[in-house]
Amino acid sequence: MLRLAVFASGRGSNLKAIYESIKNGTLHGVELALVISNNSNSGAIVFAQANHIPARHLSQLKYANDAVSFQNELLKVLAEEQIDLVVLAGYMKKLPDVVVGTYRGRVINIHPALLPAFGGAGMFGLHVHNAVIESGKKISGATVHFVEGEYDSGKIIIQETCPVFNDDTAESLAERINRTEHNILPKAIQIVVDSIEENT
Ligand code: GAR
Repeated sequence: MLRLAVFASGRGSNLKAIYESIKNGTLHGVELALVISNNSNSGAIVFAQANHIPARHLSQLKYANDAVSFQNELLKVLAEEQIDLVVLAGYMKKLPDVVVGTYRGRVINIHPALLPAFGGAGMFGLHVHNAVIESGKKISGATVHFVEGEYDSGKIIIQETCPVFNDDTAESLAERINRTEHNILPKAIQIVVDSIEENT
């Protein structure tokens, strides 16, 4: 059984989708071992606590903004919890490079657009949907990909499209894409879990 850590900053609906998929058995071979959030009031932390999932509030600000202390603490917590796989599910911070390097091939991210379009620094949450609407594109979607150093780069695991309607706001588009994310994220995790198990 692989041990999964989910990083989330906000509402935590993708965390909930992972939890439900494990609970109903559609996602298997993996257990939800840890939730990490940079935001102590996040829906993700509240959900984890309510469902008895170990949860940690870890933010660089708690380490006087010292990047090295923060990354060392992250590595320590992940090692203590014997984490095999990291999923960034609405994590609005850049995961330190040393963490990505330590878990190379075992860190994945969900992004609310069709990468490589509408990705990169500053492209998170509603900023992404505003940019899509301003561009006039009629199709957006969600992407799950491996994390490799740069923002939103790395091999794509699953992508699924969503229509963009003429009267969409960033919020209405986010809501539609969020439902797609809940569908593809557990499937992408299963692909990675199966591939790790095949290769170990
Ligand atoms: C999701 O749409 C996710 O793709 C996005 O934040 C939302 C979190 O929703 N992530 C990013 O923008 C990161 N670049 P949730 O908290 O309800 O899961």
